[in-house]
Amino acid sequence: MASNRTMLMLPGDGIGPEVMGEVRRVIDWMDKRRHVSFDVKEDLVGGSAFDKHGTPLADKTMQDALDCGVVLLGAVGGPKWDNLPFDKKPERGLLRLRKEMQLFANLRPAKCFDALVEASSLKPEIVRGLDIMIVRELTGGVYFGEPRGISDIGNGERRGVNTQVYTTSEIRRVAAVAFELAQKRGNKVTSLEKANVMESGVLWREEVTKLHQEKYKDVQLEHMYADNGAMQLVRAPKQFDVMVTDNLFGDILSDAAAMLTGSLGMLPSASLGAADPATGRRMALFEPVHGSAPDISGKGIANPLATIQSFSMALRYAYDLGADADLIDQAAENVLKSGVRTADLGGGSAKVGTTGMGDALLKELD
Ligand code: NAI
Ligand code: MG
Repeated sequence: MASNRTMLMLPGDGIGPEVMGEVRRVIDWMDKRRHVSFDVKEDLVGGSAFDKHGTPLADKTMQDALDCGVVLLGAVGGPKWDNLPFDKKPERGLLRLRKEMQLFANLRPAKCFDALVEASSLKPEIVRGLDIMIVRELTGGVYFGEPRGISDIGNGERRGVNTQVYTTSEIRRVAAVAFELAQKRGNKVTSLEKANVMESGVLWREEVTKLHQEKYKDVQLEHMYADNGAMQLVRAPKQFDVMVTDNLFGDILSDAAAMLTGSLGMLPSASLGAADPATGRRMALFEPVHGSAPDISGKGIANPLATIQSFSMALRYAYDLGADADLIDQAAENVLKSGVRTADLGGGSAKVGTTGMGDALLKELD
């Protein structure tokens, strides 16, 4: 059935199509049982797009992504394409999507499922009930700042340069995303930088404070140096609700937070862009944190839950279907509680493959 809930599905390479198949089944279930339908287009990205079109993202696909406004992506890459020139590499397809959709806010939840506390690298009491959200600035900072490069400075010495740059509007728009998320969650934002040693950090702290005063006084705001934040994340992670930080610190802190919760096969993410002034809707891309897992692709054993949870983030943040997202998250939790496990989650009482996990989830949803 046609609907105004448009979505571009890009399964990609390796295990991407395998895990995306299980999302398809959840979408069918929602149509049948909840009478919530989506207008889904499917296309190629990454190595599979290169094989067909000679580019990791065809112009037509890029245009469809912009028109749909919501993209659900599997994973890109694999050994087959490792030796392509830089601009043909599978990752370039993903980077182009991020760039042209202007996805400046990367949302990385770290949520500890009760049934998986043992999978954490930390003690159960430290992670049980953990539910935090890291908002990482994605399009600015030291990965993009000018000047950059490597130069010879004489006497056999070379110099490598990258520049951390942030403008007020770049800081404010990502901080606004963090405050708005906090309002729907635990109502607390921790902003992280190194204002003690970096001017860009001073500006970051000033602008976050100003925005808070202007628009989000109801949210509790705290500032923390990023290095202390790293310590606190492994010492007492439950003190956090929403953490917002720059591109570099966010890259590191979100990977550290991810491991508090166990397997790569369980981690979803979202990237949000500018809001449409007319509808308030943001451009958005949802994808699991894991890659294409060439070592297990084709074996039917990949864990589909990271991608299914990415879809549930889409329900929550792109379509205002929070109740449906809750339903899916709760079903996943129950399935894990009942002992159903894919291989990456270790020895449960019921070991299943990709479709087996999908079967269990659909049964629980029913
Ligand atoms: P990876 O995330 O693909 O795999 C790392 C390890 O985790 C592997 O042992 C894999 O079997 C396992 N794993 C990952 N997802 C799993 C799942 N859903 N269920 C069960 N086990 C899972 O990272 P790796 O090996 O570094 O990269 C493989 C390829 O993926 C490379 O070509 C890389 O460039 C690409 N990649 C793509 C990303 C993306 O599309 N956003 C992100 C990371 C890597
Ligand atoms: Mg990283």
